[in-house]
Amino acid sequence: MTTTTAATTTDTGVSWYVNDAVGPLPDGDFAPLDRAPMRRHATLPGYRPTELHDLPELAARLGVAQLLVKDESVRMDLPSFKILGASWASMHAVAGWLGVDPATLDLPTARTALAGRGVALVAATDGNHGRGVARMARLLGASATILVPEGTATARIEAIASEGARVEVVEGTYDDAIAASAALAGQASLVVSDTSWPGYASVPRAVVEGYSTMFHEIDDAVTAHGYRPPSLVVLQAGVGAFAAAGLRHYRGSAVTVRAAEIRTAVVEPTSAGCLMASARAGRLTEVPGPHRSTMAGLNCGLPSELVWPLVRAGTDVFVAIDDAWTDTAMRALAAVGVVAGESGAAGLGALLAAADQPALAAAVGLDANASVLVVNTEGATDPENYAAVLARG
Ligand SMILES: Cc1ncc(COP(=O)(O)O)c(C=O)c1O
Repeated sequence: MTTTTAATTTDTGVSWYVNDAVGPLPDGDFAPLDRAPMRRHATLPGYRPTELHDLPELAARLGVAQLLVKDESVRMDLPSFKILGASWASMHAVAGWLGVDPATLDLPTARTALAGRGVALVAATDGNHGRGVARMARLLGASATILVPEGTATARIEAIASEGARVEVVEGTYDDAIAASAALAGQASLVVSDTSWPGYASVPRAVVEGYSTMFHEIDDAVTAHGYRPPSLVVLQAGVGAFAAAGLRHYRGSAVTVRAAEIRTAVVEPTSAGCLMASARAGRLTEVPGPHRSTMAGLNCGLPSELVWPLVRAGTDVFVAIDDAWTDTAMRALAAVGVVAGESGAAGLGALLAAADQPALAAAVGLDANASVLVVNTEGATDPENYAAVLARG
C-alpha cells in the first residue's frame, strides 16, 4: 500500500486511514505460531471450538461473496473470547512465580503448587479480560483482584464478582485502571495484563499467543465446511492484542487455508482511536479520555507498546466508527440469530459503514469477490444496553 488517504466524516460516523507503513511483520519475541496454546486450552473445562457462521443474507447486504462470523459470544461458558488469552497468560504468570517452564505446567499441577500460598491474580479490565482472569484464579484456587474504570456497567462488574473476585472501581479511564493494577504487583500478587508497559511484556505476549486458538479453529472450520478462505479480515481493537493475534495469523505463516491476497482492517471507536492516531503520527500516540463509547472493550486510549509494531506493519486500513454503526450491526446480527455485544459487533459495524461509503469500500476491498471474516468477540455483556439497542431498531 503506497497511498496515504484519510477521510473523516462526522455526519456519516466513520473515518479511516489507509496505512502507508505496511510491511513484513516484526517477530516481537513471540513464540512460534503453533498450536501449543490450543492444546492447552483443550484441557480446560468446557473447551470446544466456537461456531463459525456463514451468513449469506448479510453478505448480500454488504455486496460480498461470503461473510463468515466467528462467534465468541459463548466461549468456555463465558460471553467473550478473552478467556483464551487470560488462561494462557495466567499460566505463564504462575509458571514464572513458581520458576518452572510454562510449557510443562498444567492446571492441576499449578493448583497443587499454589495451594495455601496466598497468591492473587490481579488485572485491570473493561470487563471481559478481568472476568477471564477471575475465572482462571478460581480454577487455580487463587484469589483475584480485578480493577475496572468508573462507569463500567453494573452487569459487567457483577459478572466478574460472580467468579469470586474482588472488584475495585478506579477513578478515571481504563488506562488509569491499568496503572493502578501495575502498582499492585508484589511478592504474591501476579499481574495478568493484556497490555504491556516498559519492563512488562512476557505476560501480555502470552495473551496474544493465547488468542491464536481462535484463528486455528477458523482455519479448521473453513476447511471442514469448504468455505472460501477469508480475503478481508476485519479486527476490532482496544489496546490491539486481539488484532495482533489475527494479524500474526493471517499475515504470518500460521494460516493454513489462504486466499491469494489477504487485506486487513482494524476497527476502533471514533472516541478511542489510539491505533489510528498512532498510525497517522507514525509513533505510539495516546488519545486522552474520557472514552465514552458503548464499545466498552475498545475504550482504550493507549495501544499496547508490545503489539503496536505488529499492528502498524500488518494493517491495511484503520477504521474508526461511531456507536451508531455498532448499534446497527448488533441489530443486523440479532436478525440472523447471532447475539453480539457492542464491541463484538464493531467489525460488522465498520463493514456496514463501508458499504455506505464507496471510498472506504474500495480502500478495504469490499467487493463482489470478497470473502470477509469478522469476529463477534462478545455476547450481550451489558444486557440492559443490548435490549435498548435492539428496541431502538
Ligand atoms: C469484546 C472485546 N472485543 C475486542 C476487544 C479488543 O481487544 P484488545 O484490547 O486486545 O484490542 C476487547 C478488549 O477488552 C473486548 O472486550
